[in-house]
Amino acid sequence: MPSIAPKPTIEPNWLETIFLAQSVDALWARHRAAEAARETGMTDRGVWSVAIAAAELASNALKFAKGGRVHLYRLDEPRPGLRIVVEDDGPGIENIELALQDGFSEGRFIQQSDTRARVRLRGLGAGLGAVRRLMDTFALENRKEGGVRAVAEKFLSIAL
Ligand SMILES: Nc1ncnc2c1ncn2[C@@H]1O[C@H](COP(=O)(O)OP(=O)(O)OP(=O)(O)O)[C@@H](O)[C@H]1O
Ligand SMILES: [Mg+2]
Repeated sequence: MPSIAPKPTIEPNWLETIFLAQSVDALWARHRAAEAARETGMTDRGVWSVAIAAAELASNALKFAKGGRVHLYRLDEPRPGLRIVVEDDGPGIENIELALQDGFSEGRFIQQSDTRARVRLRGLGAGLGAVRRLMDTFALENRKEGGVRAVAEKFLSIAL
């Protein structure tokens, strides 16, 4: 038995973790992600993209896994930016490719005809598609421990 406890590893560039337990926490995650993006020197458009992505991923963790965690990381190399990692301990996603498609929500494609009822009660199936379009990188996977991990990055646009 080692007599000295090993040092905890602090992940480089980790900024903060927001815990998601209730719907207001998604707003807080959105706000903190936007602040962190702002601090990297990103444009308003970049900050806005990061805010939407954080809100959508956090809302999915709350909706489908009853909570989760949002980790924010500063990126330096090869390009400055921000990484959002959202993890949950829910059921995972059966078909990731389908889930990423616009209009796919809760196991089926949304029909035009049920738009009104759905908008009131359910999602549009547009959250993940929006994250994919707004961010520079986006990966979605089922964690081997269970639940989902989403990783999305936005870089500073560098004028050429
Ligand atoms: N964290 C998650 N855990 C389990 N399933 C998920 C998770 N995130 C997304 N999904 C599945 O992927 C589908 C698509 O997600 P997406 O965010 O695009 O749409 P939505 O949440 O249904 O609607 P919207 O985001 O437009 O309100 C969801 O309906 C759900 O079935
Ligand atoms: Mg969603």
